[in-house]
Amino acid sequence: MSSQITIALSKGRILKETLPLLKAAGIEPAEDPDKSRKLVIGTTHPHVDLLIVRASDVPTYVEYGAADMGVAGKDVLMEHGSSELYEPLDLKIAQCKLMTAGKVGAPKSYGRLKVATKFVNVAKQYYASQGVQADIIKLYGSMELAPLVGLADIIIDVVDTGNTLRANGLEPQELIAEISSRMVVNRASMKVKYKLIGQLLDQLAYAVEEKA
Ligand code: ATP
Ligand code: PRP
Ligand code: MG
Repeated sequence: MSSQITIALSKGRILKETLPLLKAAGIEPAEDPDKSRKLVIGTTHPHVDLLIVRASDVPTYVEYGAADMGVAGKDVLMEHGSSELYEPLDLKIAQCKLMTAGKVGAPKSYGRLKVATKFVNVAKQYYASQGVQADIIKLYGSMELAPLVGLADIIIDVVDTGNTLRANGLEPQELIAEISSRMVVNRASMKVKYKLIGQLLDQLAYAVEEKA
């Protein structure tokens, strides 16, 4: 239905940090997404529903038009790598840095690097751009463990306070990108539902600036 829009969000920090911005735009979930088992959640806005998906699945839902809009970390968007997604607004939430990290004091490796990460595409591009030979090992989480048990020399992960690295005897090395979450919009939805989506983006942009 072209008068209805859906916004894909992941539970956890993105949901927590997006809700105040949505509230400022007049959108509040009809039930608590953290408590509900429902994956489609109505809102106080008559034309807006929320879809609860995994963080790394948000670009996929929006790219295929299964969701009109979505909130995703720049790390996830870089890894997804689609030019099909329109990225009109930096929500300036869930801010962190995408970095390489290794064991504290580990000597620089001169052979092929073993790099563990869930950001396989980003890692390949990064080391190719540096002219460094690297074997990339795909993990789905707990990347910080990999150097400790000899699975990899280096990890690529997001870093905020650095506490997780420190707690595991690792230190940050190279900055790959500054990260924040973005509102992404399906290109066809943007055309067909421009009035509702444009209005919502304006309200969200205002809420982001108010918060800054
Ligand atoms: P999943 O748990 O489903 O594998 P995830 O761990 O990527 O997904 P979140 O931890 O909610 O899900 O992270 C969502 C986004 O928030 C990330 O894509 C990243 O942009 C950002 N982020 C991740 N960790 C931090 C952090 N410690 N501090 C600030 N922002 C973060
Ligand atoms: C994220 C990320 C790092 C950590 C970095 O994990 O994967 O492990 O935060 O933050 P820090 O520098 O402040 O320690 P998250 O808290 O999302 O847990 P997860 O493993 O469930 O994704
Ligand atoms: Mg996480």
